[in-house]
Amino acid sequence: MTREKPKNLWLSRWGFILAATGSAVGLGNIWKFPYITGEYGGGAFVLMYLACILAIGIPVMMTEIALGRRGRGSPIDAIGRVVRENDGNPAWKLVGGMAMLAGFLILCFYVVVAGWAFSYTWKMLDGSLAAPSVEALGQVFEAHNADPWALGGWSLLVALLTLWIVGKGVQAGVERAFRWMMPGLAVMLIVLVGYSFTNGSFAEGFAFLFSFDASKITGEALLAALGHAFFTLSLASGAILTYGSYIPDGQSIARTTVIVAIADTSVALLAGLAIFPVIFANGMDPSAGPGLIFMSLPLAFQQMPFGTAFGVLFFAMVSVAALTSAISMIEAVVAYLNEKHGISRARAAASSGAVLIAISLLAMLSFNLGAEWKLFGMTLFDGLDYITSRWMMPLGGICMVVLAGYCLRSEIMRDELGLSPAGHALWLFMVRYVSPVMILMVFLHALGWLGF
Ligand code: PFF
Ligand code: NA
Repeated sequence: MTREKPKNLWLSRWGFILAATGSAVGLGNIWKFPYITGEYGGGAFVLMYLACILAIGIPVMMTEIALGRRGRGSPIDAIGRVVRENDGNPAWKLVGGMAMLAGFLILCFYVVVAGWAFSYTWKMLDGSLAAPSVEALGQVFEAHNADPWALGGWSLLVALLTLWIVGKGVQAGVERAFRWMMPGLAVMLIVLVGYSFTNGSFAEGFAFLFSFDASKITGEALLAALGHAFFTLSLASGAILTYGSYIPDGQSIARTTVIVAIADTSVALLAGLAIFPVIFANGMDPSAGPGLIFMSLPLAFQQMPFGTAFGVLFFAMVSVAALTSAISMIEAVVAYLNEKHGISRARAAASSGAVLIAISLLAMLSFNLGAEWKLFGMTLFDGLDYITSRWMMPLGGICMVVLAGYCLRSEIMRDELGLSPAGHALWLFMVRYVSPVMILMVFLHALGWLGF
C-alpha cells in the first residue's frame, strides 16, 4: 500500500516544535495549573502531575505524533489509514473522532477564559485594576463575570479571532507568530518570578509548590493530575496528531516531544513561582478557584516599577498564548472537513464556528444568568472542563497507546519513531504497561471500583 503524500508541511524544522509548543503553552499553564494546584493543596499535586507528564504524557505524545505523521491527515483519517495499513478494525477511527470532539468541547470553555485574559489586558490600561486589595480585585472579577454582555463580547471576540486565523491556514500565520511570542512570554514570566522573589513571600510560595505532603495524595487529586497532564500537553484532543501530520519525514519525534514537554512544564512551574509568593504575601487563599491569577497578579503589577505597562504586556502575551492554543483545538476539525469533504478552510471554520459560538456563549452564561443551570452539580463551564480533562482525554490516550503498543505491526512505530533499540524498548514498555495501567487504575479508582 502506498503511503499518503504529505500535503501541508511545516515551513522549517522548527515549525512543528513552535506550533506544538504554541498549542501546549497556554491558559493551562498560566491559569489552570496554579488554580488547581491551589485547590489540591500544593506539592503533592505538583509531584503527581510531573509523574503523569513523564510516565504518560511523553509516551502518549510520541505515539500521537507518530500516528499523525504515518497517517498524514486529520485524526479520523490518519488513524483510519494507519489501521488499514495493518488490516485492522476501522472502528479505531472512533478514537480520532473522540479526540476531535474533545478538542472542540475544550475550545467551547477555553474561549471564555481567554476572554478574561483579553479583557484584563484592557482593564490594566483603563485603571479598573487599581483596586487596593485581593478582596477588591475579587469584586472586579465578579462584577466582570456578572455582566453577560461584557463577558459574552470578549468570548465572542476570541472565538472570531481564532476562526479567522484557522480559516486562513495555520502554517503561514501561526508559525511566524510563535517565533517571537514564546521567548517573550518566557522573559516576562522570569521577570515576574524575580519580582516575587524580592517582594513576595517567596519561601512560602516555594514550599507550597514543592513540599511533599503524602496526605494530599487522593484518588480525586490523582485523576485531576492525570487529566491536567493531558490538557496541558494538548494530548488526545486532535491538536498534536494533526500538527504531527505536517512534520516532514525524518525529523526526530522523541527529541521534538521532549522539547515541547520541557517548555510546557517550565512555563507552568514559572507561573506557579510567580503567582504563589504574591498570593501568600497578600494573605490570599490559594484555593480561590478559577479567578486566582486575576485576583492576585494585578496587585503585583501595581507595586512594580512600570507595573501598568508590564501588566498590559503580560496579559497581552497570555492572550496570544491562549489564541495559539485555541487555534490548535479547532485545526483538526477544519483539516477534517477540508481534506475529507473538500470544504474550503474558510467555510469549514465558519460552519464549525457557528456551533462553537453557540456553545461557548452558553458556557459563558455559567458565570451569570445560568449559574444555577446544573447537571450533576456542575455548570456547563465546569462540566465541559470535567468531561474532557478527566474522561475523554485519558480515555483517548489509553486507546492510542493500546493501538500503537499492541495492535499495529511493530515496524510501523519502529519506522516512525526511529529510536535506538534501547530507546524503542523503553517506549514500548511505557505504552504497553506503564501508561495504560496507570490510566486504568486512576479510572477504576474514580469510579469507586478500586480503593487505594
Ligand atoms: N495545552 C493547552 C493549554 O495548556 O492551555 C490547552 C489545549 C490546547 C488543550 C489544545 C487541548 C488542545 F487540543
Ligand atoms: Na499547557
